[in-house]
Amino acid sequence: MVYNFDEVQSRKNNESIKWDALKERYGKEDLIPLWVADMEFQAPLEVREALLERLNQGIFGYTALGDDFYQAFINWVYKRHQWIVEKKELLFSPGVVPSIVMSILTFTKEKDTIIIQPPVYGPFEASIKDHNRQVIKNPLKEINGNYEMDLDHLESLFQAGHKVMILCNPHNPVGRVWDDETLSKLSRLVVQYDAMVISDEIHSDLVFYGHQHRLLVNYEGMAERTITFMAPTKTFNLAGLQTSIIICKNEKWLAKLKDTFYKMDLKINNYFGQTAFKASYDKGELWLEELIKYLEGNMSFALEFFKKHLYELKINKPEGTYLMWVDFRNLHMSQDQINHFLVNKAGLAFSDGLFFGEEGRGFMRMNIACPRTMLEKALIQLEKAMRTLRL
Ligand SMILES: Cc1ncc(COP(=O)(O)O)c(C=O)c1O
Repeated sequence: MVYNFDEVQSRKNNESIKWDALKERYGKEDLIPLWVADMEFQAPLEVREALLERLNQGIFGYTALGDDFYQAFINWVYKRHQWIVEKKELLFSPGVVPSIVMSILTFTKEKDTIIIQPPVYGPFEASIKDHNRQVIKNPLKEINGNYEMDLDHLESLFQAGHKVMILCNPHNPVGRVWDDETLSKLSRLVVQYDAMVISDEIHSDLVFYGHQHRLLVNYEGMAERTITFMAPTKTFNLAGLQTSIIICKNEKWLAKLKDTFYKMDLKINNYFGQTAFKASYDKGELWLEELIKYLEGNMSFALEFFKKHLYELKINKPEGTYLMWVDFRNLHMSQDQINHFLVNKAGLAFSDGLFFGEEGRGFMRMNIACPRTMLEKALIQLEKAMRTLRL
């Protein structure tokens, strides 16, 4: 390994939400934070060097996005996803959630309906409701701890006239990397009912155990009906730099979206965001490959630990994302009791399952993107707390 993911970094008092908002959010500071989706690893050295070089120039006036910004992304998606995109199909955005909001504002009006597939990343629902649109749920089906899309139900929603959906692929929090059969069927329905998909693929580079990320836009008829969002921020741990990209092959849609962004005066990137974007896509591939192996090691470690020592709880094996979805339902506790147990008995901050919708009741999400020693300490704390329940 060239990169050392075992190194423990101190992030306390560095203005990170994950560490410094513990007291505010969980009522206690002394917790191991395994909640919000960023990692306990430094960004690749090559990215930090590029940022330092930019910093040393010392002038931070208005920026312009050069061809090399777009080219870095074009090369990356070709290499990693065999996807051919052109500069004219790309639009910078400060973040994927802002892109979702802008798409909602651009393509729907107040009271319109938007389909989501809970349990799913909470800001989908919030973005819809915040702008006075209506959430229509197409909940995932849980079959023996495995999650599938309910495509029959989705078809009934399309039939009833709901035409816009937000897809999460890979899916946060259940960790599915949607397979070819699911995406083919989904695409056929979208084409048949002439719907639109806002496709959040921010986790697309974080795919494990030989699974393959498939781009929705590549299915027949989908190039005209999909808006895709990607970013280097999950992949390379750059979330605080606020940089992402929209890819849309439908020229008219992209022009409309651009118009919305420009009218909000969201035209330019910040120096550090664009520098990190370029450097990570240009130079980060080896780091990512090593990261994936390390995260697979963490996942296997956690799975084994749960099987041996935390057998009352069920945990998924993620196909993608570094997030594990833990099922506490066997404990027959209310959501408040689970939260209280984790914070006060185990000393852990997980993401509350209800953040992902009512469908997340009885579940908690655990972020395993940290040095193995930190993960092990967290799991041992959880085991000790579980023992008190077994007495
Ligand atoms: C599915 C999904 N979309 C979007 C985001 C956030 O994206 P951004 O920080 O670019 O707004 C996250 C962060 O966890 C996520 O899991």
